[in-house]
Amino acid sequence: MQRAAARALRGARVPPVRARSASTGPPPRGLLYERHGDPAGVLQLKELEVPRLGHSDIHVKMLAAPINPADINMIQGTYAILAPLPAVAGNEGVGRVLEVGPGVTALRPGDWVIPADAGLGTWRTQAVFPEASLLQVPSDIPLLCAATLSVNPCTAYRMLADFESLAPGDSVIQNAANSGVGQAVIQIAKATGIRTINVVRDRPDLPKLVERLKALGADHVITEDMLRKPEMKEIFKSIPQPRLALNCVGGKSTTEMLRHLQPKGTMVTYGGMAKQPVTVPVSAFIFRDVRLRGFWMTQWKKDHAHDKESLSSMMDTLCQLVQRGQLGAPACTTVPLEDFKEALVASTQPFTSSKQHMQCWQD
Ligand SMILES: NC(=O)c1ccc[n+]([C@@H]2O[C@H](COP(=O)([O-])OP(=O)(O)OC[C@H]3O[C@@H](n4cnc5c(N)ncnc54)[C@H](OP(=O)(O)O)[C@@H]3O)[C@@H](O)[C@H]2O)c1
Repeated sequence: MQRAAARALRGARVPPVRARSASTGPPPRGLLYERHGDPAGVLQLKELEVPRLGHSDIHVKMLAAPINPADINMIQGTYAILAPLPAVAGNEGVGRVLEVGPGVTALRPGDWVIPADAGLGTWRTQAVFPEASLLQVPSDIPLLCAATLSVNPCTAYRMLADFESLAPGDSVIQNAANSGVGQAVIQIAKATGIRTINVVRDRPDLPKLVERLKALGADHVITEDMLRKPEMKEIFKSIPQPRLALNCVGGKSTTEMLRHLQPKGTMVTYGGMAKQPVTVPVSAFIFRDVRLRGFWMTQWKKDHAHDKESLSSMMDTLCQLVQRGQLGAPACTTVPLEDFKEALVASTQPFTSSKQHMQCWQD
């Protein structure tokens, strides 16, 4: 593990721990792994004990937590940051505050909280977290929106804001447009007047997916094959060629998408779902001077650790979009924590088009 990454995860609390809190009913449980490997093989649903509340700690009841590709890679041991073992899996989610330590002034029982950073271990029913590891979100937003706010919408927001200065009417092209990030890109772009060209893989129920993405605000939804076709020219009769391309895939999809970027435009790579390298034609550099960049939300948060203003301004904007109905959660399937194996399998199947969520609460 990278040393810096290890430092970043040092705040994460991992059981086994001390005495169980007296304030709750059923024993707290969580999905724990003691070694890296196939998640369905190494994850175990175990009873966890919740530590006593420290001065600046928050006792949280987890409500929902999604399965993201990075969670899987972290358990496999292939991600750029790894939690110290044993670890509770899961990086994202939303919880309700049950109790706060005597030194906590900003949060109260009943508030909703999400992880401030990766590595918190969210696939569990309850936990005690340091106050600094949490961010408050409004408790009147839909539960699954809150549970999926800290990673994908933040990534979409930053990529739309930080690489090109886009104005209403400009366009963006992206692949894996039906991913969690892709759906957030569509909605945030729509709310700011930016047009989107959305590339997805062909599938038997393509018309249904196209309809769903258009209902979110997508201007154009096309398949990867279409990127090579002369009909692409039709799209650029009504909207400008994109100044920004967002790459979640790699391989052929990326090379073809890059062909449509404006000269001096920027392609930002943030995912590698095809597990293929990015291949760029020499002509794209020489004749169009395209810029290739990368983005990682974890690094952005680290780089802005002392810039609370940027973080809170982003979170406020995203929460306002949610409250105005302009940003919703990706399509989701909620499964009880004990059905985690089925959820893990579903999360890695092609064409699922539904984010699997662990339903953490147990009343
Ligand atoms: N850099 C960052 O800060 C950051 C932040 C968030 C997410 N990410 C990354 O972004 C990616 C998407 O995350 P997510 O949570 O949005 O994922 P998600 O909701 O689970 O969606 C996965 C997406 O990947 C597509 N996909 C899977 N295998 C593919 C392949 N072989 N070729 C083309 N497309 C493929 C799926 O399309 P189908 O429907 O066609 O299967 C789907 O659109 C992941 O790689 C994740 O690690 C990066």
